[in-house]
Amino acid sequence: MSDPSPHPMAFTDLPPGFFALEDEPEFDPARHLQLEAPETVYRLGEFGYEGESLADAPVDFAATSVFRIMSEEGAAHLYRIAKSLEPFTTSNARVERNLRGGVYRSKYLRDLCLSPEVAEFMSGIAGIELMPHTIAHQLGHINFNPPEIGRNVDKWHVDTLRFDYVMFITDPRSNEGGQFQYFKGTRDEVDALKKAGKPLPPDRIISPAMPGAGYGIFQQGSHVVHRAKGLTRPGERITMVNGYIPCDPAFSDHAAYGQLVGVDPAEVVTIEYGKHAADHARRYIDRYLLQRDFADDREGVAEDLEKAASILQTAARYIRAGRQEIEHFGED
Ligand SMILES: [Fe+2]
Repeated sequence: MSDPSPHPMAFTDLPPGFFALEDEPEFDPARHLQLEAPETVYRLGEFGYEGESLADAPVDFAATSVFRIMSEEGAAHLYRIAKSLEPFTTSNARVERNLRGGVYRSKYLRDLCLSPEVAEFMSGIAGIELMPHTIAHQLGHINFNPPEIGRNVDKWHVDTLRFDYVMFITDPRSNEGGQFQYFKGTRDEVDALKKAGKPLPPDRIISPAMPGAGYGIFQQGSHVVHRAKGLTRPGERITMVNGYIPCDPAFSDHAAYGQLVGVDPAEVVTIEYGKHAADHARRYIDRYLLQRDFADDREGVAEDLEKAASILQTAARYIRAGRQEIEHFGED
């Protein structure tokens, strides 16, 4: 894997009201990661994606079975950090209690989420070169269970990011309920079922058994419909979601500014999204336009220039359009 480009957010200036945690352990990939290959990797074709709905995805990877990401020691550090960050949780229309932007507050969390070792490992699984998400609020998202028993942690949905892993920070074996689930079907299928008032067929819902803290699944979250169920008796359920994007800037952006601005502080997410778009266009120009040799390829050069411009124009249009309703497919 080529050297990762620096993240467009420097993380030296924290957003207003954000403070860095003190006395954190240092993230040590050799000790804190334990990357073990998943047994099963599902393809989007197996989920029913075909034609245009498949062409929309950068790769046909859908999701994995459960695999280990962090060591026991790493997961224990992350648990203590999650507990320190718990006072800063917020609510939105989909998730009752989540912590976003934790990568500004915790260097350990940031180093884990930006880890080139993890990005390379996930790239190998997905079959496409990936890099950590260039929107800081799409890194290290942490879900905490709602205090009310039975309330789902997160509703059926697809993600506002392309690729992500969902990892348990607490040990799911000590809980009743609280399963992470994904549906072996397409977004359109779920949409049609929900509009018809029908539940998802239970025999196509996968509820992978999680053997402990530090284990998770990896998915193309833009296409795999998933949710997190509520606990059925009192307990603690904490999970982390980390986002990735394709390294190749020719793939279109999937970040939904209108959704993010409904969830995250506008003064933070607008800057993050603007820099994310600028970084995308810059990487496109670097990788395509500036690599060109002498040739009379007027059409190619014109297309490259237009593509770079359209990355920026599309982002500007989304920023002007502003907030949109948060999308999800409901509870059951
Ligand atoms: Fe999700």
